[in-house]
Amino acid sequence: MVDEKAIQVAQEKYGVLLRQQLERVERLKKEGDWTDYSKLDKLVIGVCGGDGIGPYICASAQKVMEFLLADKIKAGKVEIRQIDGLTIERRVEVMKAIPDDTLAELKKCHVILKGPTTTPKKGDPWPNIESANVAMRKQLDLFANVRPVSVPELGINWTFYRENTEGSYALGSEGINVTDDLAMDFCVATTQGTERIIRAGFEHARKIGQNYVSLVTKANIIKTTDGKFLSIAEKVAKDYPEVKWDDWFIDIMTAKLIDPARRSDFRVFVLPNLYGDIITDEAAQIQGGVGTAGSANLGKRYAMFEAIHGSAPRMVTEGRAKYADPCSMIKAVAMMMEHIGEAEKAKKLNMALDVCVQFEKKLVMTGRSTGATGDEFAQYVMDTIQRPDLEKVWQGYVDSAIAKNAAQ
Ligand code: IPM
Ligand code: MG
Repeated sequence: MVDEKAIQVAQEKYGVLLRQQLERVERLKKEGDWTDYSKLDKLVIGVCGGDGIGPYICASAQKVMEFLLADKIKAGKVEIRQIDGLTIERRVEVMKAIPDDTLAELKKCHVILKGPTTTPKKGDPWPNIESANVAMRKQLDLFANVRPVSVPELGINWTFYRENTEGSYALGSEGINVTDDLAMDFCVATTQGTERIIRAGFEHARKIGQNYVSLVTKANIIKTTDGKFLSIAEKVAKDYPEVKWDDWFIDIMTAKLIDPARRSDFRVFVLPNLYGDIITDEAAQIQGGVGTAGSANLGKRYAMFEAIHGSAPRMVTEGRAKYADPCSMIKAVAMMMEHIGEAEKAKKLNMALDVCVQFEKKLVMTGRSTGATGDEFAQYVMDTIQRPDLEKVWQGYVDSAIAKNAAQ
């Protein structure tokens, strides 16, 4: 016998969710334009360590950030604010993904550097509260998750534009257990939310002159939401006639990323939230692991920069936190520099990271006392930035890696 009462209860819950999403659409329609950082009297950068290894790697990355912005900080053009309260203990204490006072502080900043935060899953000792990452992306409307991956010697130069506020994540904590035997989750795509991420990807392709966008969905199966993603892309693409684009299914794209004959063709990817989550870990692994990739979460009003990996609580309980690799966070600093209009600083930091992590490797991170500490590595990066011959050294390494690769 079908449980009519259960259907009715679920319908009511569903009604609430629909209302919330339609209200959100109305807010999206009123969204302002991108912040122009050059017009600010003072740029406020919030630093929020997170938990697990977060505070350790974030502190190392902060040193690099303060080093790069030293002149601006001294001149009062940039203010760095430490923001506490995003630890799992505090979040559990108030039973919120982001405590209200922490959120209020975050909202007073323009951009945020954020360490990883623990995301409880079913079965963990923590209550199953929503991920702080996901909550921050939603609360600050950080709709574009931009993740670059580059391996110059393999011709890989990819930028992923992952939709960050909708898809399977929008109601990830609000699925419905209709009965003990039936669970349902929801996937959300709005016209406004879909259009702005696709536009951001195309704008990026146009800006960098890398005129190739690949749209990734599973529109043959997830016909409604992914289908909408694809049909909006067809419309948006018309505004970018100089940008070549194509569309792929997520399954074949995961294969193509490891196809040496094909992968170096790709440039900019635009994709819904969950596919973007999965494929950017794969892409980061090709670059050397998730510890090497940074991530920008961009909205029109706020932006947040973070590592793409988790908080590795085990490293803390095993006393190895200071050996955690801060490179992903330092990469996030480079993305922040780019975003706030400090392109030259971003370029130097990216070159220094390549030299330190991929080529020269005077110090290596092993995650244990056999390797460098995060602070030592950050210092190595800062020393490298200051090398007067940095660009020449970097170019030399890249050229010889390309030659070596071609000879294989
Ligand atoms: C990421 C992470 C997060 C996500 C987790 C930690 C919630 O995997 O940033 O890719 O799923 O988005
Ligand atoms: Mg992920």
